Amino acid sequence: MNTGSISSKWLVVYFSLSGNTRSLARELASKLDADCLEIQSGRKYSSTPLGYIKAAWDTGMQRNVGFTIENPPASLSQYVGVVIASPVWMSSIAPPVQSFLQAYAREFKQVAFLVTLGGNGAERAFKQMENICNRMPVGTLAISSKELIRRESEKLTAKLDEFAGSLRTAPLKKVA
Ligand SMILES: Cc1cc2nc3c(=O)[nH]c(=O)nc-3n(C[C@H](O)[C@H](O)[C@H](O)COP(=O)(O)O)c2cc1C
Repeated sequence: MNTGSISSKWLVVYFSLSGNTRSLARELASKLDADCLEIQSGRKYSSTPLGYIKAAWDTGMQRNVGFTIENPPASLSQYVGVVIASPVWMSSIAPPVQSFLQAYAREFKQVAFLVTLGGNGAERAFKQMENICNRMPVGTLAISSKELIRRESEKLTAKLDEFAGSLRTAPLKKVA
């Protein structure tokens, strides 16, 4: 974990099964000079057809699967904001991310959302995160598998740069 001054620092928290969200979350964290934490699911999912069925079932049932994070910081309110990054599963966020938000959302000063997806469900996933966090995000970004597979790297880099820029300059609103 980066040990620089924390008061103006963002935190990027992500869950990823097959690596798409992980690579984008890490790239974003590097652009933002943010700390980065990986959520591990409390229930193990494999990248197999059976694993996907289990994942889809838990998502559909809105199951609280629990999560772990290696070396979590004492408090997330130290950060100027938290980016939550999740794959879209069944037009929702992945269950471990939901479990994480239910445990920590009240500590966030401000939030931004990043999702990766096949093609459908980003808006619903954003709405779900907004509802659990009980606040509007200062920014959202959805990246499709098509964009990742084609590695339209210039376009992707431009989108990530723009997103990072908008977070860096987001005015912190005082919460009463
Ligand atoms: C169980 C499951 C459900 C999914 N449901 C959706 C979906 O509703 N809409 C969509 O666009 N993509 C869906 N996807 C595709 C993933 O969102 C996409 O591949 C994502 O980039 C995977 O991220 P990851 O590599 O970080 O795990 C689903 C994938 C899985 C495994």
